[in-house]
Amino acid sequence: MVARRVRTVEISGIRKMFDAAAPDSVNLGLGEPDFEPPSEVVEALCAAVRDGMNHYGPSAGLAELRDRVAERYRDRDRRTSRENVIITGSGTEALLVTALALYDAGDEVLVPNPGFVLYSPHARLMGATPVPYSLDAQRRYVPDLDELERLVTRRTRAIVVNSPSNPTGGVFPPAVVDALVAFAERHDLTIVSDEVYEEIVYDGEFVSFWGKSDRVVVVNSFSKTLAMTGWRIGFLVAPRALALDLNKMHYHVMACPPTPAQVAVLFGLASSRPAIRRMVREFRARRDLVVRLLREVPGIDVVPPAGAFYAFPRFSWPSTSAEAATALLKRGVILTPGDAFGSLGASHLRLSFAASRDNIRRGLEIVRAYGEEVGAMSASGENGGRKGTPKVPLGSPPSSR
Ligand SMILES: Cc1ncc(COP(=O)(O)O)c(C=O)c1O
Repeated sequence: MVARRVRTVEISGIRKMFDAAAPDSVNLGLGEPDFEPPSEVVEALCAAVRDGMNHYGPSAGLAELRDRVAERYRDRDRRTSRENVIITGSGTEALLVTALALYDAGDEVLVPNPGFVLYSPHARLMGATPVPYSLDAQRRYVPDLDELERLVTRRTRAIVVNSPSNPTGGVFPPAVVDALVAFAERHDLTIVSDEVYEEIVYDGEFVSFWGKSDRVVVVNSFSKTLAMTGWRIGFLVAPRALALDLNKMHYHVMACPPTPAQVAVLFGLASSRPAIRRMVREFRARRDLVVRLLREVPGIDVVPPAGAFYAFPRFSWPSTSAEAATALLKRGVILTPGDAFGSLGASHLRLSFAASRDNIRRGLEIVRAYGEEVGAMSASGENGGRKGTPKVPLGSPPSSR
């Protein structure tokens, strides 16, 4: 018999979606860049492996890489040093380590709804209660401070924030960051700021929470910026005392981050700026294409994403988001059901534009044809004459959420 905690979480609906897809489907479901890491970083990885960097390293990561990351964070807080930085085996591990170090059973944790799929499960695994706060299109996906004041209790331990956001593409303006910091200070909360998409911003400007308060833990990753999701390397930036505790949890989870990947990233951080700029430029062009094509689909509304590489269109079709995603999957395009990200993701789909422009056009052509079909069925009152509830051709939904 397994521990009770195992039953408190599910495998992400996103993964289930992939399992159900035909091999030749257009994949607009991927949460990773469709680029390769910069070639000099790939070369550095190969050289590291060849030159014998194949052994355990320090638990908190190679000192030189921690120094390099600290250097990048010094313009946010000039006191930042190696002691604030822990290199992790991915942003995912960084989030788990943060939960292990911060949340006790009985605590409450404010999490975005819709929000990235790990925040609530990690809280639940610790015996804590995730308390969702709303992000909606009307507010351009920034939190409503009045709602946060209503949700906070004496048990609230932390608030998780994510700007630029997966899945909404929302980016917090500077005044929102300041208001969230003041809120956290007022209620003695830790801010867990997931900044893995910090480099991928199209409108406005990314503002880090680091340096805004002493109660911030930044979760970050090289996965998205250096297009190395499979290498599993990320990092945490935290106040020194907390960093020691985070490192203790990190040691127990994975002993140390992968040595060859650290050497390659260390080498690549300085030289990869042009590659990152090129990638973001391409993402911006695709963002514009996706928004234009989505606006041609009957029954769809979309706020242009200001960052990350996801659009989060809302649909007015009479189906759940899992049903709509399944129907589209059968027609050959993979999209992620919006409610995989929380209850407010109902009637939404997440579309990743980490796909070629050709695939985006092909995929959105399928979505447009589907939107027209559903619209025509609604107009003719098909589905046994039940007006407004046309029969959407469905299989079993891929997501259990
Ligand atoms: C918001 C957010 N945070 C964290 C991660 C984790 O990234 P990784 O584990 O690849 O570093 C992801 C990945 O999709 C993400 O979208």
